Amino acid sequence: MDEDSGLHYAHTPVMHREVVEFIAGIARCEGDTVVDCTLGEGGHSELILGGFPDFRVIAFERDPEILEIAVKRLEAFGDRLTVINDNFANMGERLKGMEGRVRCVLYDFGISSFHLDRSGRGFSFRGDEPLDMRLDPRLETDAARIVNTAREKELTDIIHGYGEERWARRIARRIVERRGAGPIKTTGELAELVLRAIPARYHARNIHPATRVFQALRIAVNDELSAIGASLGDAVRLLACGGRVIAISFHSLEDRLVKDAFRRMAAGCSCREEPRYCRCEGPPLVRLITRKPLIPGEDEMAANRRSRSARMRVCERIGGEPSSISA
Ligand SMILES: C[S@@+](CC[C@H](N)C(=O)[O-])C[C@H]1O[C@@H](n2cnc3c(N)ncnc32)[C@H](O)[C@@H]1O
Repeated sequence: MDEDSGLHYAHTPVMHREVVEFIAGIARCEGDTVVDCTLGEGGHSELILGGFPDFRVIAFERDPEILEIAVKRLEAFGDRLTVINDNFANMGERLKGMEGRVRCVLYDFGISSFHLDRSGRGFSFRGDEPLDMRLDPRLETDAARIVNTAREKELTDIIHGYGEERWARRIARRIVERRGAGPIKTTGELAELVLRAIPARYHARNIHPATRVFQALRIAVNDELSAIGASLGDAVRLLACGGRVIAISFHSLEDRLVKDAFRRMAAGCSCREEPRYCRCEGPPLVRLITRKPLIPGEDEMAANRRSRSARMRVCERIGGEPSSISA
């Protein structure tokens, strides 16, 4: 809780000790700017601005509503904070001219507890809210449009591809059948449908059966994975020598994108071929600080259930030709 304002923030910053330690461990780096790609309610940025008085933060956030909360929370830091209400996929363009001057780029992917618990935009299957799921209100397609208009095959691909849900085909068929009686309008209706579509003996004990379907729809609505793919190369291009990218993922699709991009850049690869076909012989651009992803400590997982799926990877800029990076 923020003692001064009386505000209770919904979100607890994940792996905050590790974030601070990895930033503190950056040696011999000329940049004094940290780019927080996923500001949310501003938890990580607050720790960075409070813990490193010589640094400034440039923060991206797609959602104007949560951005307003963060701006209020961080107003005491004055012009040390610059916020950009945009997708971090546009970071290369928005931060043109800053190449080689940034000390750290931080990603904390996905959505905030604010979205799940307070936004009223249908990110959670626990309540009964309109099926929206847009992080940015300017997006044209919301979750209701996908659920009520996508063809069965398209629904199957979304649920399978972005939710890794083995019952995707069956769930998609049930959605299409149910649409015959009128549109599916709320999260409660969708969660109930999914619950019934998956045979009870296959219901996981520790997660709600609709978890993967909701994750899949959210990723599709916000085109989340393309943004990650588009931005990791730009992040490294911005770093000063010795600067670091810290990426916190919450499911295997995000983590795979980070792992592959970091490995390519560590191998000096600037093409998009699969590693076995790659013939690039460029100099390595980064050094992997974490070969395997780090997970939160037991105490953090016990105190913050939502941290349990977090995976952190870190790489460090070591040189090379910035313009040749493509992750
Ligand atoms: C897990 S939360 C970040 C929490 C934050 N680190 C904190 O400590 O409060 C992720 C945030 O990133 C935002 N976000 C997700 N994808 C984004 C993107 N492509 N560009 C900009 N913001 C994004 C979401 O709206 C959400 O507020």
